[in-house]
Amino acid sequence: MEKEPNASDREEKRCRLRNVWESLKDICAICVADKLVLKEKTDDEQSLISIKIESPKKKWRKENFEGKKFGQYGIYGISGFGGMSCVYNAGRADGMALACKIVDGSSVAMLRKESDILRRLQHKNIISFRHYIEYHNCGLLFMEQAEMRDILDFVNSHWPLDRNIRRRWSKELIFAVKYLHSTGIVHRDIKCENILLSRELHIKLADFGSAHQASDRFKVCACNIEYLPPEVIRKQIPVGYDLRMIDVWSVGVVLFILLTRRMPFGPMVGSELDAIKWKYANTCEPEFTEYEKKLAEPLYIEIVKKLLRFDFVSRASFQDILASRYYSRSMDLGDRKGYHCKHASV
Ligand SMILES: Nc1ncnc2c1ncn2[C@@H]1O[C@H](COP(=O)(O)OP(=O)(O)O)[C@@H](O)[C@H]1O
Ligand SMILES: [Mg+2]
Repeated sequence: MEKEPNASDREEKRCRLRNVWESLKDICAICVADKLVLKEKTDDEQSLISIKIESPKKKWRKENFEGKKFGQYGIYGISGFGGMSCVYNAGRADGMALACKIVDGSSVAMLRKESDILRRLQHKNIISFRHYIEYHNCGLLFMEQAEMRDILDFVNSHWPLDRNIRRRWSKELIFAVKYLHSTGIVHRDIKCENILLSRELHIKLADFGSAHQASDRFKVCACNIEYLPPEVIRKQIPVGYDLRMIDVWSVGVVLFILLTRRMPFGPMVGSELDAIKWKYANTCEPEFTEYEKKLAEPLYIEIVKKLLRFDFVSRASFQDILASRYYSRSMDLGDRKGYHCKHASV
């Protein structure tokens, strides 16, 4: 069970963040629900580190929505937790299975924004919006349910992945993000925990809590630090930086994990910003072991390297990636392992 942070843990974290703070100029690190988050400094933050350590699990045990009804929507048991939210299994009166993401307090405005973005999106590889309501101090987002949880769970229990699954998921993820970008939105928090799976094991991109207009200049970046591109970590963001580059890099990290079940530049112990900076200063492209090279088609490795180019100007576009021969081949059915999950086998 996860240990509750005590006073000395908090003090240690505070010191660590202060060091990070010293090393940063325009971007500040804040700790939200025990995660390190980068954001642009505002004037009144010039000498302040905002630290907020809370345990959403503990909080949500107090505020129980189980069994509550909102019109034609009902809420059942808890399905999962995010950094700021609790997600319940839910349903509509006509029997449609749904998920309901609930936040409270200051996170309600963010969930409202997430709902506004989600309701505009329509893609088979993106979780679809159903309904949004506010109740007392809480925001409730009802959406399509992804029955098979996230791809991280799946990779951990089914590694090494079947080549067909890897090809399908990488393609579906790129389709989803390419579509998102075509609507003028960037996700900015693409990571394995936010990529969910349908009953038939198709990708469903979720968690648009950090999504933003692509046309805006770089502002807050609440993306998991391990999925952030080097230019953001190094604070080398030129004026006019294309925010879509953040998603392109994160997709590269996800594709790397699908093949290797590890992070591309070694474990980021405790998500230490300094350690990541050091790694990015001393490496220039992801490396694969001999075993990993045997697992993958050379074309897949080429794609991952193109997405994880340190120089964002030469980072591949999704258009280029989808034009790869890797995706033009017809599905190879001879190589299936057969994943016998609760609802599906592929
Ligand atoms: N539509 C959904 N269907 C099934 N599970 C979901 C759904 N949305 C979220 N979850 C589960 O809840 C977790 C937290 O949701 P998420 O939207 O990522 O919240 P946060 O913004 O707090 O990270 C996810 O990692 C996933 O396990
Ligand atoms: Mg999430």
